[in-house]
Amino acid sequence: MLRIAIVMGSTHTGRLNDAVARWVYDVARTRKDAAFELVDIAEYHLPLLDEAIPPTVGQYGHEHKRKWAQKIASFDAYVFVTPEYNHGVSAALKNAIDYLFREWNNKAAGLVSYGSVGGARAAEQLRLILAEVMVAAVRAQVTLSLFTDFENFTRFKPDLSRTKELHAMLDELVAWAKALKSVRWEASVKAASASMYSNARQVKTEVTS
Ligand SMILES: Cc1cc2nc3c(=O)[nH]c(=O)nc-3n(C[C@H](O)[C@H](O)[C@H](O)COP(=O)(O)O)c2cc1C
Repeated sequence: MLRIAIVMGSTHTGRLNDAVARWVYDVARTRKDAAFELVDIAEYHLPLLDEAIPPTVGQYGHEHKRKWAQKIASFDAYVFVTPEYNHGVSAALKNAIDYLFREWNNKAAGLVSYGSVGGARAAEQLRLILAEVMVAAVRAQVTLSLFTDFENFTRFKPDLSRTKELHAMLDELVAWAKALKSVRWEASVKAASASMYSNARQVKTEVTS
């Protein structure tokens, strides 16, 4: 069974994100093609990136990084639920993505954004960020308007059409998540054979020297 995280992209008290992410989860879990889990960045208490070694190296100095890496590594795909702050994603979401590298690689993502113009600018920025950590974001997305999908800009009341849009995005996400499993498999086989080769070379050097 595919495992898909619904990543909550806002961390402040009173965030709209709670209601949006909960709606995504409630719709998603009616499906039989994947298991969904809410992942709240706020629960990981990630400070601004505080590691000396770059994330591409994959070393885990701090406990908060280990926990975050373990959680993210356990999924095949992600639904990012993102607000729009100054036409971009929240600093908390960017920081949480920056913490890791390999854990994201060759996985799929779907985007759900919200804002005055549906959070579209944040979603576009998120696509660029995800490409750099080798996450493939599907085309279909859900862009929720603060004007029409919320009452008084606070109470989330999505238009009925949004559920259909969310399923359309999840259909694409599940398809890409399945396909990318084989890419990860091939990459892990290559890495394993490269390490066997280098171990064998080392043994040969030790024996002959
Ligand atoms: C610093 C800041 C910048 C914002 N910039 C935008 C923006 O560029 N576009 C937009 O649609 N809303 C913007 N907003 C309004 C947010 O959409 C709104 O605060 C929303 O509640 C944020 O989601 P959250 O409560 O889940 O964090 C901004 C809010 C903050 C606090």
